[in-house]
Amino acid sequence: MPESIPPSEPVKPRSLFNNWISAIGGVLAVAALFSFALFVWMDFTQGEKNPYLGIITYLIVPGILIIGITLGFFGAWAQWRWQIKHAGVTSDKWRLDFSDQQHRRALVIFGTGGVIFLMLTAFGSYQTYHYAESTQFCGEVCHRAMNPELTAYKRGAHARVDCVECHVGSGAQWFIKAKINGTHQLIAYTLNNYKRPIATPLKNLRPAQDTCEKCHWPEKFHGNIDVDAEHFLSDKKNTPYNIRMLMRVNMTQPGSPIGGIHWHVNADSRVEYFAADEKRQDIPWMRVTNLKNGTSHVYRTEAFKGEPVAAQIRVMDCMDCHNRPAHVFPTANEVVEHAMAAGALSMQLPALKRVAVQAMTQKEITTTADAPPKIASFLEAKYAGAPELPATIVEVQRLYAETIFPDRKADWRVYPNNIGHKDWLGCFRCHDEKHKTAAGESVKANDCKSCHIILTQGKGSDLQALSAQGQDFKHPGGDLDPDLTCSDCHNGGIQK
Ligand code: HEC
Ligand code: HEC
Ligand code: HEC
Ligand code: HEC
Ligand code: HEC
Ligand code: HEC
Repeated sequence: MPESIPPSEPVKPRSLFNNWISAIGGVLAVAALFSFALFVWMDFTQGEKNPYLGIITYLIVPGILIIGITLGFFGAWAQWRWQIKHAGVTSDKWRLDFSDQQHRRALVIFGTGGVIFLMLTAFGSYQTYHYAESTQFCGEVCHRAMNPELTAYKRGAHARVDCVECHVGSGAQWFIKAKINGTHQLIAYTLNNYKRPIATPLKNLRPAQDTCEKCHWPEKFHGNIDVDAEHFLSDKKNTPYNIRMLMRVNMTQPGSPIGGIHWHVNADSRVEYFAADEKRQDIPWMRVTNLKNGTSHVYRTEAFKGEPVAAQIRVMDCMDCHNRPAHVFPTANEVVEHAMAAGALSMQLPALKRVAVQAMTQKEITTTADAPPKIASFLEAKYAGAPELPATIVEVQRLYAETIFPDRKADWRVYPNNIGHKDWLGCFRCHDEKHKTAAGESVKANDCKSCHIILTQGKGSDLQALSAQGQDFKHPGGDLDPDLTCSDCHNGGIQK
């Protein structure tokens, strides 16, 4: 049998994309497309929990895709240039030749590598996604800027609630806002030009119905709550002074009229207000609407004459009182009292309560770098030779480090807590007897018992007697002047 010689095929002109550069670009692009599909799917199914997934999906992965495609075309262009220069030359080292065994082997290795790469990307994507969702990522890695919040958060009742539960959450509109915002933040963080302190109130937080009320149902609110504050006075003996109060949070029994502190968020009424300042501390106008019959009444301060613009009116929700639910910046006064109650600071050192607060807030302390030695020398000057001195220095330095964050300019002085009225105006922003309706009625403030009753106060045996109808407050700092509010004197540091 005569051997059949295959007819020589006409040589196909070589494709411009037949070169290694384009091949690598192609693999990159395919891998990116693959990851993109995976990410989009993840983003749609679980993305609302994680703004950073958006950054990866819509910025980084498309970036790789573009690089891949660009490389593909660059290879083709380089090939075209090469062919013009070397007309007639058919083989070159860039060319993929399928009849060449070496090339075939290289291609198999490259292809297998590509597949492994794809699988790793898929796995990596999934891991990255989970990581970016974690509190560790929010608070430590990406957001070293947010270390103060992380420190405060770990102490709080929400330490097991992920940052994203309150800060991102579900809902299409907020989802997109968070995406855009997350990208902004990433850029600001990378350029290191974010605001210090980070400005509050946050404007892009979702309404409380979508965050807080996912876990705390208004229908399931607590009854009254027993709050016990342990104070120490600034005298030589660091005299303890406890105040135990019953907070009238929710007096609603089924069928009874709505009342108590959580009245502001009950379903039948709407409280709105206008704040004249960014921090929402100066509230000259508010309106209460009865949603059942549509009637409403306005309270205003005497000085405020006009009407607020509709866009500036805010409906009161949980976060107007609980504005620091997860990461409270406690005051220097509070952390020192807490350390004394816990026994970490010795009651034996005369006036330590006052001195420790002064050590933390002294004017000379401005930077992180030299705060610890300044605290040490401040305490040494007061208590030279005392056996408790070394331990006291260590403890006050620790309190300082966990309370005051100079590199982010963050502490209680810039982040007011609106829940009470001692160190900030809080409830007294509105409950100050100065806001009046046209008929001259005001929101109660001097009626101390409308919000809480003092069950017991003082020290030692004073605390044994509980009073059901509530005691009058015995102010340890002397008689209260009705013309002053608490925060005129109390500011979390040394009383003015
Ligand atoms: C229970 C809900 C909740 C959780 C959980 C939570 N936050 Fe917040 N966060 C808030 C609220 C509400 C504000 C707004 C405060 C304001 O507007 O005055 C806020 C404000 C902030 C701010 C602005 C600056 C400031 O301190 O007010 C940062 C930064 C922040 N949170 C970071 C975090 C980080 C990081 C985590 C996780 C470690 C976290 N948050 C967990 C509710 C939460
Ligand atoms: C993912 C669920 C979840 C979300 C969202 C959430 N919380 Fe909580 N909250 C909890 C848990 C859990 C506790 C702790 C309960 C305990 O310790 O008994 C708690 C405790 C509290 C407490 C009492 C503890 C304290 O600090 O005094 C308050 C007040 C509170 N939450 C308010 C809020 C507000 C306001 C929001 C919205 C900004 C919110 N929570 C969002 C789960 C949540
Ligand atoms: C008018 C201010 C105000 C508003 C608005 C408000 N709260 Fe409260 N809430 C308080 C006060 C005051 C307490 C008593 C505890 C305290 O003094 O720290 C309290 C207590 C709580 C507690 C129990 C805390 C504990 O120590 O066990 C939870 C949970 C809570 N609020 C959630 C909410 C949620 C969710 C909303 C929004 C639907 C809301 N609150 C709206 C002022 C308010
Ligand atoms: C934005 C203004 C505003 C703030 C802030 C505010 N309140 Fe009120 N509060 C009102 C108004 C308005 C009323 C209703 C007055 C009326 O009946 O017309 C009211 C009523 C109340 C009532 C009586 C509810 C009833 O009828 O039984 C209590 C208790 C109360 N507030 C507690 C608090 C506490 C505690 C805080 C701080 C954690 C606080 N409020 C902060 C505006 C405010
Ligand atoms: C509008 C409601 C409201 C009114 C009116 C009110 N308080 Fe309070 N008070 C609060 C809240 C809320 C807290 C914070 C409870 C907490 O620490 O969780 C508080 C805390 C306190 C504390 C404890 C402070 C601390 O840190 O130990 C004292 C003392 C106190 N109030 C006294 C008074 C006196 C005296 C009056 C009358 C002049 C008064 N309150 C009127 C809501 C009110
Ligand atoms: C004229 C200024 C002034 C006013 C107004 C004032 N205080 Fe005081 N307060 C003091 C002084 C001074 C002390 C004693 C400081 C010490 O011994 O540590 C004190 C001590 C206290 C203490 C115990 C120690 C501490 O640091 O916590 C509490 C609690 C307290 N005051 C609550 C209030 C409340 C609540 C109001 C408002 C109803 C109020 N004060 C209004 C000046 C004032």
